[in-house]
Amino acid sequence: MDTVLSGIRATGHLHMGNYFGALRNFVRMQHENRCFFFIADYHSLTTHPDPSVLHGNVKDILCEYLAAGLDPEKATIYVQSDVPETVELYLLLNMHAYLGELSKTVSFKEKARKQPQNVNAGLLTYPTLMAADILVHNSDKVPVGKDQEQHLELTRVFARRFNNMYGVNYFKEPAAYNFGQELIKIPGLDGSGKMGKSEGNCVYLCDEPKAIQKKVMKALTDQGPTEPNSPKPECIENLFTIMKAVSTPDTLDYFNEKWNTCEIRYGDMKKQLAADIIAFTTPIRERYMEIVNDDAYLHRVTAMGAERARESAAKTVREVREIMGIKPF
Ligand code: TRP
Repeated sequence: MDTVLSGIRATGHLHMGNYFGALRNFVRMQHENRCFFFIADYHSLTTHPDPSVLHGNVKDILCEYLAAGLDPEKATIYVQSDVPETVELYLLLNMHAYLGELSKTVSFKEKARKQPQNVNAGLLTYPTLMAADILVHNSDKVPVGKDQEQHLELTRVFARRFNNMYGVNYFKEPAAYNFGQELIKIPGLDGSGKMGKSEGNCVYLCDEPKAIQKKVMKALTDQGPTEPNSPKPECIENLFTIMKAVSTPDTLDYFNEKWNTCEIRYGDMKKQLAADIIAFTTPIRERYMEIVNDDAYLHRVTAMGAERARESAAKTVREVREIMGIKPF
């Protein structure tokens, strides 16, 4: 059985893009693999979140994991900061992570440009912490988006370097797992690019129906087609892509037909799309509302996850210490 691991940074609610790009696939993978899914709260500290909101952000992702169908009996669901073994491995790996390669990382350069007043060491060593997350369970597959590929490449570099350095064959080289054809990339509602929190073009899984309706009705469209069977501009293609994810094939065919015959009325299409998104997200939102107030349940889930994750992580750290020459008296 393969070990699968992935995490999401605790920076706020999950949206449809997170669901179709990650969460839905986590739910599928939990049945056939040894799975670890965690909430990366340490990683979110690199941007100095307000301490009074951080815990709520962790809770939101935890509840959304569960509401979307992650099963704490099947997968190990945990909070990164509940597993201090990760931090020890992070320190050990940092001894073999070089300034040159860390400072060349695209995500580091971007963050350094965006927050020049806060180019902290945690930001620089973000990839080492991520490598520690992955290697601490000796993971095989890491389901992540394209934007994380460079981090994963560094993880493999660190694993390989460690093995060479100490003449062992200890760490596996984990592979990014992107689901190939199955992966649906959800675009934003603002006409171009993907759905993203910072883009402000999102439908959140826990949005109220009224909010969803409003966002969809405001989505960017054009003047409409003037010639039959013409190619769709990006903003229209995007609405069809979202529709493909949440509506029935009949509905999709119907509006495609209307497009092709130049009879499409965007108002009608948006109404239908909003209704289908609402039908799709409502069970998730309702489940979220149940879970978010059940502190006893959340405590049980995180305690169980931490216990299992720590057991797996402690074994790795014990062996890595030994390999590096740190031994008890
Ligand atoms: N860096 C990832 C992101 O921003 C989150 C993350 C942290 C992660 N550690 C990880 C993802 C380990 C996969 C595996 O999306």
